Amino acid sequence: MNHPEEDTTQLDPDEAQGLKFKHITTRSELNHLEQANIQSGIAWMRRSRRTDLLSESYVRELHKRLFGEVWSWAGTFRRTGKKIGVDPPRIAVELCTLLDNMQYWFDNETYAPREAVIRFHHRLTAIHPFPNGNGRHARIMADALLIKLYRLPAVDWAGGQDIHSMGDRRKSYVQALRAADGGDYEPLLTFADIK
Ligand SMILES: Nc1ncnc2c1ncn2[C@@H]1O[C@H](COP(=O)(O)OP(=O)(O)O)[C@@H](O)[C@H]1O
Ligand SMILES: [Mg+2]
Repeated sequence: MNHPEEDTTQLDPDEAQGLKFKHITTRSELNHLEQANIQSGIAWMRRSRRTDLLSESYVRELHKRLFGEVWSWAGTFRRTGKKIGVDPPRIAVELCTLLDNMQYWFDNETYAPREAVIRFHHRLTAIHPFPNGNGRHARIMADALLIKLYRLPAVDWAGGQDIHSMGDRRKSYVQALRAADGGDYEPLLTFADIK
């Protein structure tokens, strides 16, 4: 079965094998299972007492909490190249650099909280550490930083729409990520500000 989302990150055959529910035949069934898993992952993030958010271990545990009931490879880094993302051998080191940078931005108030978290979110999607679920994980990771580190409210990423479907809101989100690729974070900041 093909993976349900757009072709930004197609699963390789061995990744597709990692589906824990072998009876699934439709995309909507998979979407529902993933959505239920994500809800319990968000609940874990909100109640967790972990304070080491800026560690590889936390980043991986969050992915596992969000997708681990559905995919056996949840919480483990990509081993194959995708259209987006750094080469697999560079994932751990690029993530480490990003986490160090974010710690520095937080400690030194280099950027306003929202801007720091938006820069972090963009870089995390660009590294693309996991076989799939990078967008959803990076949005929830950004929310975790806002809530736990900065004691601020989460971003309303969906703005009342299902960001995971191909609506206008997702289009402007992807456009904003592309602008950030070019060093312009304004569109992503504006996007994240919509209430
Ligand atoms: N040029 C791009 N086009 C689409 N998505 C991009 C692009 N660059 C980065 N991304 C990010 O990658 C995500 C898609 O990767 P994927 O691993 O499939 O995550 P998910 O399954 O949560 O959507 C998008 O949600 C977005 O956050
Ligand atoms: Mg996907």
